[in-house]
Amino acid sequence: MNLYKVKDYQALSKKAASVLAAQVILKPDAVLGLATGSTPAETYAYLRKWHEDGILDFSEIKTVNLDEYKGIAKDNSQSYYTFMKEHLFDHINIKAQNTFIPDGEDTDSNSVCEKYEAQIMQLGGVDLQLLGIGRNGHIGFNEPSDCFMEHCHCVSLAESTIEANKRFFDRAEDVPKQAYTMGIGTIMKAKKILLLASGKEKAKALCQALRGPVTPGLPASILRLHKDVTVIADEDAWSGMEL
Ligand code: PGA
Repeated sequence: MNLYKVKDYQALSKKAASVLAAQVILKPDAVLGLATGSTPAETYAYLRKWHEDGILDFSEIKTVNLDEYKGIAKDNSQSYYTFMKEHLFDHINIKAQNTFIPDGEDTDSNSVCEKYEAQIMQLGGVDLQLLGIGRNGHIGFNEPSDCFMEHCHCVSLAESTIEANKRFFDRAEDVPKQAYTMGIGTIMKAKKILLLASGKEKAKALCQALRGPVTPGLPASILRLHKDVTVIADEDAWSGMEL
């Protein structure tokens, strides 16, 4: 694992964007695995800027997102489809047909997940997968459980995840209770993985992921078995490692 401790969220975002930019420059038709949430938001701002400055060309890039709420309309302001359009896709020269997100509008879980898994295979797999980490150690929406789920699947969100995500919704009851997510196997097949952690509320999960046992009880811990993982954490997220 390559571990980078940086000062703060801004420094984390710039470094993360640089890793993604390097991938785009070195392999212009790469498949990027993308994430949503607060953590990558500023990373995407750098990518937008560097595209505007003429540094990054996304015309042949393909993207697959980690997850999407189940039963949410694409045009819902809190869908990950909307998040990606607003934070990245609408501002760069990526082709809409080259961007893939599980279809949250379709409630037939088996069909959505099978299609998504097949889609990722058809693209030849993910070159670089961007990940955040949940306060409970989840990656994508792979919540702590008794086993690692290999493929794309439908999950019931953990109470702590619903609690953490309610800040984006008007009311806690509006947070969807289920989601589609890439499986742990799907994530682990990515050639390279970039994990970001920012803020004190991630310190415990990050420390357990990097130092504790590899267990489905802390899904991010599996990343220690991947051969090419880069972790960028700010001082607050890193603080658990120094206890
Ligand atoms: P966050 O979410 O970036 O909004 O903190 C990360 C995650 O839950 O994976």
